[in-house]
Amino acid sequence: HAPVVVAIDGPSGSGKSTVSRAVAARLGLSFLDTGAMYRAMTWWMLANDVDVDDPEAVAIACTKPVIVSGTDAAGPTITVDGKDVSGPIRGPEVTAKVSAVSAVPAVRTQLVELQRSCAEVAERGIVAEGRDMGTVVFPAATVKVFLTASEAARAERRAAELRAKGVDEATITAMAADLARRDAADSSRETAPLTQAEDAVLVDTSALTLEQVIDRIGSLVEERA
Ligand code: C5P
Repeated sequence: HAPVVVAIDGPSGSGKSTVSRAVAARLGLSFLDTGAMYRAMTWWMLANDVDVDDPEAVAIACTKPVIVSGTDAAGPTITVDGKDVSGPIRGPEVTAKVSAVSAVPAVRTQLVELQRSCAEVAERGIVAEGRDMGTVVFPAATVKVFLTASEAARAERRAAELRAKGVDEATITAMAADLARRDAADSSRETAPLTQAEDAVLVDTSALTLEQVIDRIGSLVEERA
Protein backbone atom coordinates (compact mmCIF):
# COMPACT_ATOMS: atom_id res chain seq x y z
CA HIS A 1 0.00 0.00 0.00
CA ALA A 2 1.79 3.13 -1.24
CA PRO A 3 1.86 6.21 1.00
CA VAL A 4 -0.72 8.86 0.24
CA VAL A 5 0.36 11.85 -1.85
CA VAL A 6 -2.03 14.79 -2.05
CA ALA A 7 -0.91 17.20 -4.77
CA ILE A 8 -2.31 20.72 -4.50
CA ASP A 9 -1.60 23.28 -7.20
CA GLY A 10 -2.94 26.72 -7.93
CA PRO A 11 -2.12 30.40 -8.29
CA SER A 12 -1.08 32.69 -5.44
CA GLY A 13 -3.93 33.77 -3.24
CA SER A 14 -6.10 30.73 -4.00
CA GLY A 15 -5.79 29.74 -0.34
CA LYS A 16 -3.35 26.96 -1.20
CA SER A 17 -0.98 27.30 1.75
CA THR A 18 -3.62 27.56 4.45
CA VAL A 19 -5.67 24.76 2.93
CA SER A 20 -2.71 22.43 2.37
CA ARG A 21 -1.40 22.81 5.91
CA ALA A 22 -4.85 22.29 7.40
CA VAL A 23 -5.48 19.18 5.29
CA ALA A 24 -2.11 17.72 6.31
CA ALA A 25 -2.79 18.43 9.98
CA ARG A 26 -6.26 16.90 9.82
CA LEU A 27 -5.15 13.74 8.01
CA GLY A 28 -1.93 13.37 10.03
CA LEU A 29 0.24 13.69 6.93
CA SER A 30 3.51 15.51 6.33
CA PHE A 31 3.45 18.83 4.53
CA LEU A 32 5.64 20.21 1.77
CA ASP A 33 5.64 23.88 0.76
CA THR A 34 7.54 23.77 -2.55
CA GLY A 35 7.16 27.53 -3.10
CA ALA A 36 9.31 27.99 0.01
CA MET A 37 12.09 26.03 -1.73
CA TYR A 38 12.01 28.28 -4.82
CA ARG A 39 11.97 31.26 -2.47
CA ALA A 40 14.94 29.90 -0.49
CA MET A 41 16.90 29.40 -3.73
CA THR A 42 16.06 32.98 -4.75
CA TRP A 43 17.04 34.32 -1.33
CA TRP A 44 20.44 32.62 -1.60
CA MET A 45 21.02 34.01 -5.12
CA LEU A 46 20.23 37.55 -3.99
CA ALA A 47 22.41 37.18 -0.87
CA ASN A 48 25.31 35.98 -3.03
CA ASP A 49 25.01 38.63 -5.75
CA VAL A 50 23.98 36.23 -8.49
CA ASP A 51 22.31 38.14 -11.36
CA VAL A 52 18.88 36.52 -11.12
CA ASP A 53 17.84 37.99 -14.46
CA ASP A 54 20.58 35.98 -16.17
CA PRO A 55 19.32 32.39 -16.57
CA GLU A 56 22.82 31.06 -17.27
CA ALA A 57 24.23 32.58 -14.10
CA VAL A 58 21.29 31.14 -12.15
CA ALA A 59 21.78 27.69 -13.70
CA ILE A 60 25.47 27.65 -12.75
CA ALA A 61 24.88 28.84 -9.19
CA CYS A 62 21.85 26.71 -8.32
CA THR A 63 23.71 23.58 -7.18
CA LYS A 64 25.61 25.49 -4.49
CA PRO A 65 23.11 26.22 -1.68
CA VAL A 66 22.06 23.38 0.62
CA ILE A 67 18.30 23.75 1.10
CA VAL A 68 16.60 21.71 3.81
CA SER A 69 12.85 21.77 4.21
CA GLY A 70 11.00 20.49 7.26
CA THR A 71 7.74 18.63 6.62
CA ASP A 72 5.81 19.17 9.85
CA ALA A 73 2.39 20.71 9.12
CA ALA A 74 2.37 22.36 12.55
CA GLY A 75 5.50 24.38 11.88
CA PRO A 76 7.27 23.93 8.56
CA THR A 77 10.88 25.14 8.60
CA ILE A 78 13.28 25.98 5.81
CA THR A 79 17.02 26.47 6.03
CA VAL A 80 19.71 27.41 3.52
CA ASP A 81 23.24 26.34 4.46
CA GLY A 82 21.95 25.83 7.98
CA LYS A 83 20.40 29.30 8.32
CA ASP A 84 16.66 29.60 9.04
CA VAL A 85 15.25 31.75 6.21
CA SER A 86 11.50 31.40 6.94
CA GLY A 87 11.21 35.17 7.50
CA PRO A 88 13.31 36.65 4.69
CA ILE A 89 11.89 34.37 1.97
CA ARG A 90 8.51 36.12 2.39
CA GLY A 91 9.96 39.59 1.86
CA PRO A 92 9.29 41.76 -1.22
CA GLU A 93 12.82 41.35 -2.67
CA VAL A 94 12.49 37.56 -2.91
CA THR A 95 8.85 37.75 -4.01
CA ALA A 96 9.77 40.09 -6.87
CA LYS A 97 12.45 37.74 -8.24
CA VAL A 98 11.23 34.22 -7.47
CA SER A 99 9.38 33.74 -10.78
CA ALA A 100 12.55 34.51 -12.77
CA VAL A 101 14.59 32.02 -10.75
CA SER A 102 11.94 29.30 -10.81
CA ALA A 103 11.66 29.49 -14.61
CA VAL A 104 15.24 28.21 -15.02
CA PRO A 105 15.16 24.46 -15.87
CA ALA A 106 18.32 23.62 -13.86
CA VAL A 107 16.72 25.10 -10.74
CA ARG A 108 13.63 22.98 -11.25
CA THR A 109 15.61 19.77 -11.80
CA GLN A 110 17.44 20.39 -8.55
CA LEU A 111 14.36 21.21 -6.46
CA VAL A 112 12.09 18.54 -7.96
CA GLU A 113 14.60 15.94 -6.82
CA LEU A 114 14.58 17.43 -3.33
CA GLN A 115 10.76 17.43 -3.30
CA ARG A 116 10.53 13.77 -4.29
CA SER A 117 13.04 12.78 -1.63
CA CYS A 118 11.00 14.61 1.04
CA ALA A 119 7.95 12.59 -0.03
CA GLU A 120 9.88 9.34 0.10
CA VAL A 121 10.75 9.74 3.76
CA ALA A 122 7.24 10.84 4.81
CA GLU A 123 5.97 7.68 6.47
CA ARG A 124 2.23 8.25 6.43
CA GLY A 125 2.18 10.31 3.28
CA ILE A 126 2.39 13.95 2.32
CA VAL A 127 0.41 16.96 1.18
CA ALA A 128 2.53 18.82 -1.37
CA GLU A 129 1.60 22.28 -2.56
CA GLY A 130 2.98 24.26 -5.48
CA ARG A 131 2.48 24.88 -9.18
CA ASP A 132 3.51 21.58 -10.77
CA MET A 133 2.81 18.96 -8.09
CA GLY A 134 0.15 17.13 -10.10
CA THR A 135 1.66 17.69 -13.54
CA VAL A 136 5.38 17.05 -13.02
CA VAL A 137 6.58 16.19 -9.52
CA PHE A 138 3.99 13.59 -8.44
CA PRO A 139 2.23 12.39 -11.60
CA ALA A 140 0.90 9.33 -9.74
CA ALA A 141 -0.45 11.27 -6.73
CA THR A 142 -3.37 9.70 -4.84
CA VAL A 143 -5.40 12.89 -5.18
CA LYS A 144 -4.72 15.97 -7.31
CA VAL A 145 -6.44 19.22 -6.55
CA PHE A 146 -6.32 22.41 -8.58
CA LEU A 147 -7.35 25.26 -6.31
CA THR A 148 -8.61 28.48 -7.84
CA ALA A 149 -10.52 31.53 -6.77
CA SER A 150 -11.80 34.49 -8.73
CA GLU A 151 -9.28 37.28 -9.14
CA ALA A 152 -11.42 39.51 -6.93
CA ALA A 153 -11.57 36.91 -4.14
CA ARG A 154 -7.83 36.31 -4.33
CA ALA A 155 -6.99 40.01 -4.25
CA GLU A 156 -9.37 40.58 -1.36
CA ARG A 157 -7.89 37.71 0.68
CA ARG A 158 -4.34 38.89 0.15
CA ALA A 159 -5.30 42.47 1.04
CA ALA A 160 -7.01 41.32 4.24
CA GLU A 161 -3.91 39.33 5.25
CA LEU A 162 -1.65 42.31 4.64
CA ARG A 163 -4.00 44.75 6.40
CA ALA A 164 -4.00 42.47 9.44
CA LYS A 165 -0.20 42.77 9.47
CA GLY A 166 -0.49 46.56 9.42
CA VAL A 167 0.67 47.04 5.81
CA ASP A 168 -0.42 50.38 4.26
CA GLU A 169 -2.86 50.64 1.33
CA ALA A 170 -0.29 51.86 -1.24
CA THR A 171 1.87 48.80 -0.55
CA ILE A 172 -1.18 46.53 -0.77
CA THR A 173 -2.00 47.94 -4.24
CA ALA A 174 1.62 47.50 -5.37
CA MET A 175 1.66 43.93 -4.09
CA ALA A 176 -1.58 43.11 -5.94
CA ALA A 177 0.06 44.19 -9.19
CA ASP A 178 3.15 42.13 -8.38
CA LEU A 179 0.99 39.08 -7.70
CA ALA A 180 -0.80 39.37 -11.04
CA ARG A 181 2.56 39.66 -12.79
CA ARG A 182 3.91 36.59 -10.96
CA ASP A 183 0.87 34.45 -11.82
CA ALA A 184 1.14 35.45 -15.48
CA ALA A 185 4.85 34.55 -15.49
CA ASP A 186 4.31 31.22 -13.70
CA SER A 187 1.50 30.24 -16.09
CA SER A 188 3.29 31.16 -19.31
CA ARG A 189 6.81 29.85 -18.67
CA GLU A 190 8.14 27.02 -20.82
CA THR A 191 9.19 24.54 -18.11
CA ALA A 192 6.46 23.17 -15.80
CA PRO A 193 3.99 26.06 -16.13
CA LEU A 194 1.09 26.35 -13.72
CA THR A 195 -1.69 24.30 -15.33
CA GLN A 196 -4.37 21.96 -14.11
CA ALA A 197 -3.43 18.29 -14.53
CA GLU A 198 -5.94 16.36 -16.63
CA ASP A 199 -6.87 14.18 -13.67
CA ALA A 200 -6.97 16.99 -11.09
CA VAL A 201 -10.18 17.98 -9.32
CA LEU A 202 -10.92 21.69 -9.73
CA VAL A 203 -11.94 23.37 -6.48
CA ASP A 204 -13.03 27.01 -6.73
CA THR A 205 -12.66 28.51 -3.26
CA SER A 206 -14.21 31.94 -4.02
CA ALA A 207 -17.48 31.20 -2.26
CA LEU A 208 -16.32 28.48 0.15
CA THR A 209 -15.14 28.75 3.75
CA LEU A 210 -11.82 27.25 4.74
CA GLU A 211 -13.70 24.45 6.56
CA GLN A 212 -15.67 23.60 3.42
CA VAL A 213 -12.53 23.38 1.30
CA ILE A 214 -10.77 21.16 3.86
CA ASP A 215 -13.83 18.88 4.08
CA ARG A 216 -13.99 18.59 0.29
CA ILE A 217 -10.32 17.60 -0.04
CA GLY A 218 -10.50 15.36 3.03
CA SER A 219 -13.35 13.37 1.48
CA LEU A 220 -11.51 13.08 -1.84
CA VAL A 221 -8.57 11.54 0.01
CA GLU A 222 -10.81 9.18 1.98
CA GLU A 223 -12.49 8.01 -1.22
CA ARG A 224 -9.18 7.16 -2.87
CA ALA A 225 -6.69 6.25 -0.17
O1 C5P B 1 3.68 29.39 -3.46
P1 C5P B 1 4.54 30.61 -3.46
O2 C5P B 1 3.79 31.86 -3.84
O3 C5P B 1 5.34 30.78 -2.23
O4 C5P B 1 5.59 30.35 -4.62
C1 C5P B 1 6.56 31.31 -4.97
C2 C5P B 1 6.98 31.13 -6.41
O5 C5P B 1 7.71 29.92 -6.57
C3 C5P B 1 5.87 31.04 -7.45
O6 C5P B 1 5.43 32.33 -7.86
C4 C5P B 1 6.54 30.27 -8.58
O7 C5P B 1 7.31 31.14 -9.39
C5 C5P B 1 7.50 29.36 -7.84
N1 C5P B 1 7.00 27.99 -7.70
C6 C5P B 1 7.16 27.12 -8.76
N2 C5P B 1 6.80 25.81 -8.64
C7 C5P B 1 6.28 25.34 -7.50
C8 C5P B 1 6.07 26.22 -6.40
C9 C5P B 1 6.43 27.55 -6.54
O8 C5P B 1 7.65 27.53 -9.81
N3 C5P B 1 5.98 24.05 -7.41
